[in-house]
Amino acid sequence: MHILGVDIGGTGIKAAIVDSKTGQLISQRQRITTPQPATPQAVAACMKQMVAFFNWQGPIGCGFPATVHHGVAQTASNIDQSWIGTNVESLFTEYTDCPCYVLNDADAAGMAEMAFGAGIQHHGVVLVVTVGTGIGSAVFVNGQLLPNTELGHLILNQQVAEHYISARVRETEDLSWKKWGKRFDLYLQRLAFLMSPDCFIIGGGASKKFEKYSSQLTVKAEVLPAQGLNQAGIVGAAMYALHQQ
Ligand code: BGC
Repeated sequence: MHILGVDIGGTGIKAAIVDSKTGQLISQRQRITTPQPATPQAVAACMKQMVAFFNWQGPIGCGFPATVHHGVAQTASNIDQSWIGTNVESLFTEYTDCPCYVLNDADAAGMAEMAFGAGIQHHGVVLVVTVGTGIGSAVFVNGQLLPNTELGHLILNQQVAEHYISARVRETEDLSWKKWGKRFDLYLQRLAFLMSPDCFIIGGGASKKFEKYSSQLTVKAEVLPAQGLNQAGIVGAAMYALHQQ
């Protein structure tokens, strides 16, 4: 089934039409810069723009950078505070005139990685960590998602982990991959201690640079770069919409 997959991030909104059974994109990817401030109305207007661009009529799956409980945003770390309590599914459905299904962005990326990427054949506890504007997490137990975990908000060195190891921090502090890798290793060690995962999968932009910092990683669990590159969020959102039909 073809579904429009959308990945809403702190800096960009990306979308493509996805074959939700195979995980393949069947259109080009379209990107819009996330409006600032990223208010509900401003982001919903971007959703409408995406639908017009693809001339889309049909279900839409959408990854959103916050916890989303039954369609309602519960947090807002890298988006406007006015999202908290907003029914994202109803808002997007109203603006696009298409049924919209919304989940946490890292959960979406994790679902795609488990089905079509680095997580294939990985059982037990798999922890997907996405490194972007924020740090997202998705926890799988024998392939089953525990939704809405916020492991990027663990306290590490007396600060919120994502304020210490996100891609944004790496850029603003101009950290080398080696220096950033050492910080990231502390984070993975902390997660390993708390969660005893069998495997970590690292997603987001850091997946493409894995060889630049992997030698800094000392955790015992296997650590793999995500394979879906920047598409996993789009593909996982479409998979989610398929399951909600
Ligand atoms: C948010 C998460 C999100 C992650 C990646 C964090 O700041 O709290 O919900 O998954 O950023 O976008």
